[in-house]
Amino acid sequence: LDNGLMRTPPMGWLAWERYRCNIDCKTDPKNCISERLFRDMADRLAEDGWRDLGYVYLNVDDCWSSMLRDSEGRLQPDPQRFPSGIPALAGYLHARGLRLGIYADLGNLTCGGYPGTTLDKVETDARTFAEWGVDMLKLDGCYSNETEQAKGYPLMSRALNATGRPIGYSCSWPAYQGGLPPKINYTELGQICNLWRNFDDIEDSWDSVLGILDWFMDNQDELQPAAGPGRWNDPDMLLVGDFGLSLDQSRSQMALWSVLAAPLFMSNDLRTLSPEAREILQNKLAIAINQDPLGVQGRRVLKLKSGIQVFLRPLSHSASSLVFLSRRTDMPFRYETSLRELNYTSGEYRAVDVFTGAIITGLTDDKNFTVIINPTGVVMWYVYPTMHHGRGEGRDPDPS
Ligand code: DGJ
Repeated sequence: LDNGLMRTPPMGWLAWERYRCNIDCKTDPKNCISERLFRDMADRLAEDGWRDLGYVYLNVDDCWSSMLRDSEGRLQPDPQRFPSGIPALAGYLHARGLRLGIYADLGNLTCGGYPGTTLDKVETDARTFAEWGVDMLKLDGCYSNETEQAKGYPLMSRALNATGRPIGYSCSWPAYQGGLPPKINYTELGQICNLWRNFDDIEDSWDSVLGILDWFMDNQDELQPAAGPGRWNDPDMLLVGDFGLSLDQSRSQMALWSVLAAPLFMSNDLRTLSPEAREILQNKLAIAINQDPLGVQGRRVLKLKSGIQVFLRPLSHSASSLVFLSRRTDMPFRYETSLRELNYTSGEYRAVDVFTGAIITGLTDDKNFTVIINPTGVVMWYVYPTMHHGRGEGRDPDPS
């Protein structure tokens, strides 16, 4: 969507995967969906280095609202859990250089059973969100049919635009319609939404990550061209810092989401995050790769019987990123290949190993090299040319 927003994939934090519809503030006051949770996370985003790395959106998901609209038909937050109101929360975030994302559902009810945004409420809700100072909207699609969605998603896009407030727009539409052409017209979608969920909800497990990855890759010919500045495929939240992924798997998700130009929304507890998880999520080179201004989504370029898969994302300054993923479950695998085998043009390259910082010199396209990939892990490289071939200048990566 050409609204000037999200020219690189949006980054931030989203409540759903970790906190779901936990509304029991009596027994679980620290983790229930309430203004306290969001203020806590805002403090962490602002004070622990996240905001300065680009993680600026703090997004509320389902179960924030009251069960009833107000007397004028507007959505309102649950008064017990958000006693200060949403404008106060937006103010709290804006004062810290953060942005507020909110959630609504095009349909009779949200998936969690809260008031939905029916077609006749689209404009009211867009205006309400803008008046509250909201900066992003995720519009879910439970309890609506195909026809209502085909009307409602574009209608909300126009309604948000009409408010005059810049509001990033995340559409769950494709996820409710199978995510593929001809049902989904990705060219049109890119004119309506800034990002969109294509597929299933992520769960806290490696299986879930692989299920999503495989669907995206098996359909990359349809999906990859849809992405670009202002319009992104969204394979769903980062699980790093939760319970289901090992450290290698956490690096894998961060690496893959970065080469896939995916939105980077963490869903974790920033108050108790381990130093290891933080290091992965705050990896400057991985973030720079994710945020590359060209905005080209990477592709799976090799899928080998050995269980090794290779992903490649072209980056600005003639650079690129490679991710070598091992689907094996035995032992670290020595994978030997060359840049020529991965379709690089002839020349000399240098690479930075994104997770170790090691620099690999003297890579000519025809020379074989070996990477050692842990089971369910990745090796991720930032690659750039050292010789000039009239195609652009090689240079060291921005972040140290
Ligand atoms: C389905 C969405 O895909 C999830 O991300 C989450 O928003 C839930 N609905 C909330 O009910």
